[in-house]
Amino acid sequence: MHMLQKTQVRSAVFVKSSPDVSGCPEGNLPEFAFIGRSNVGKSSLINMLTGRKGLARISSTPGKTRLINHFLINDAWFLADLPGYGYARVSKKSRSMFPGLIREYVMTRQNLMCLFVLVDSRLEPQKNDLDFINWLGENRVPFAIVLTKTDKINHRVRHQNRRLLEEKLSLAWEALPAIIESSTVKKTGKEEILSFINHLVRPTENT
Ligand code: GTP
Ligand code: MG
Repeated sequence: MHMLQKTQVRSAVFVKSSPDVSGCPEGNLPEFAFIGRSNVGKSSLINMLTGRKGLARISSTPGKTRLINHFLINDAWFLADLPGYGYARVSKKSRSMFPGLIREYVMTRQNLMCLFVLVDSRLEPQKNDLDFINWLGENRVPFAIVLTKTDKINHRVRHQNRRLLEEKLSLAWEALPAIIESSTVKKTGKEEILSFINHLVRPTENT
């Protein structure tokens, strides 16, 4: 049993928006990034985690976040809000299913500790989410899954969708990744995500 150290966000500051990885802030601190299909709730989740309502911009129009936005938390680690995938239509023939910016970021950002892949809890597993997750696996990128908007559906459908997702993942994975359920309306999932981050930022203090 560890002593669960409550993870507090004491400060959260917008650092910059970057159109490419070379424009990102110097990668001298651990970084956690949020990714997922457009409109899945990435920016809302960042605001909930930091307790700052207007920190990341939220919009009901998909594709609001087109740049990589960095936030510095507690002067100790970065959060990155990434553009959504699955918004700009990609031709079926195209082999790269995800925007170049996302691929470049995921493959080259050295200080990336964990990518949180947001998946809409209301939907049965979607091909582009599964493709993206499996692509992460092939490239050995550490990630966890966050099921979003759980306030919008009932228990039964939520559990059913989660089970279907786990079944699909089991086809490709020996061990399932961490899966965290969240709602920015009910304010759930916050502690779990922050403590997940905390264990990676300060591994020795939590053993
Ligand atoms: P892009 O930047 O366009 O890729 O979107 P995003 O993934 O950052 O989504 P965003 O946080 O902007 O949220 C999209 C919409 O979903 C907004 O209308 C939010 O208010 C809504 N939303 C996000 N999270 C939740 C949630 O947990 N529950 C409910 N009910 N609505 C949510
Ligand atoms: Mg956004």
